[in-house]
Amino acid sequence: MLPAVEVVDVARTFGSVVALAGVDLRVEQGEFFGLLGPNGAGKTTLISIIAGLTRATRGAVRVLGHDVVTDFRAARRSLGVVPQELVFDPFFTVRETLEFQAGYFGLARPTAWIDEILHHLDLTSKADANMRALSGGMKRRVLVGQALVHKPPVIVLDEPTAGVDVELRQSLWQFIRKLNRDGHTIILTTHYLEEAEALCHRIAMLKAGKVVRLDSTANLLARVGGIACRVSVERLPSAWRARGQRDEHGAYRIGLESYGELETLLAALREDGITVRDLAIEAADLEQVFLELTGSGRRAT
Ligand SMILES: Nc1ncnc2c1ncn2[C@@H]1O[C@H](COP(=O)(O)OP(=O)(O)O)[C@@H](O)[C@H]1O
Ligand SMILES: [Mg+2]
Repeated sequence: MLPAVEVVDVARTFGSVVALAGVDLRVEQGEFFGLLGPNGAGKTTLISIIAGLTRATRGAVRVLGHDVVTDFRAARRSLGVVPQELVFDPFFTVRETLEFQAGYFGLARPTAWIDEILHHLDLTSKADANMRALSGGMKRRVLVGQALVHKPPVIVLDEPTAGVDVELRQSLWQFIRKLNRDGHTIILTTHYLEEAEALCHRIAMLKAGKVVRLDSTANLLARVGGIACRVSVERLPSAWRARGQRDEHGAYRIGLESYGELETLLAALREDGITVRDLAIEAADLEQVFLELTGSGRRAT
């Protein structure tokens, strides 16, 4: 079977900035594939090259066997792209935006399909609203709808849930999962580790324009084992300082090899007179894999 997307030694520079430094990937048909990496890792650049919107400086990309440069039309037709940036004609209604997209692919107005898309994205009541009147989350849904209009076998989503509320995130996840069950190949970029972990079968971790790890989500998680604790404290004892990453709520997340280590940590906190406001134990997750890989001690989010 042809791979859904094949990326061969792709590099891209912008002046002196190396956005991609030689990437090889092969995404099989039917996969739910994740491209995970911190901001600036090169995710959007890679998506733009796959979509034929940006040229690679070196290397080749094929979508279902179609070269994105020499066979652009066929490659583009095989692909639905949900871009990271929200760009629209503000004077179009939601329905017109989708119809316009259908026209771009030379399709007669696929009214029934557009109705179905609107329904699944919970946009039916907004069908005749102007794009400029929609909230950011609603616009994001229309972007997803736009990518689906020509029923592409391969769907690429560039950070579809960045900045959207929890409720929309959940409904988007459900919808994207359904598309994958229905046979669409999904490639999702994200800098949310939990999102990649929840959705993707395989994950490529991208850092500074290179794939630093590519494996099944299960294998990536199996590698870390162990446990982690999240502890809310004013500060960590000095011996533990290098091991804790502070999360967005101000708690420290610390990877532990055993429960015995947890006792050592609690003893050190008590010794320093540090009050524990909250403590939670978690299974190891992708965040640990990511930190281990990048060795940066910086969170990926
Ligand atoms: N059009 C551009 N001009 C100059 N530099 C760019 C351009 N697009 C991307 N870059 C740079 O390439 C690197 C990768 O960016 P990007 O692909 O957007 O990463 P990501 O999507 O993973 O956050 C960054 O250093 C970014 O500043
Ligand atoms: Mg990006």
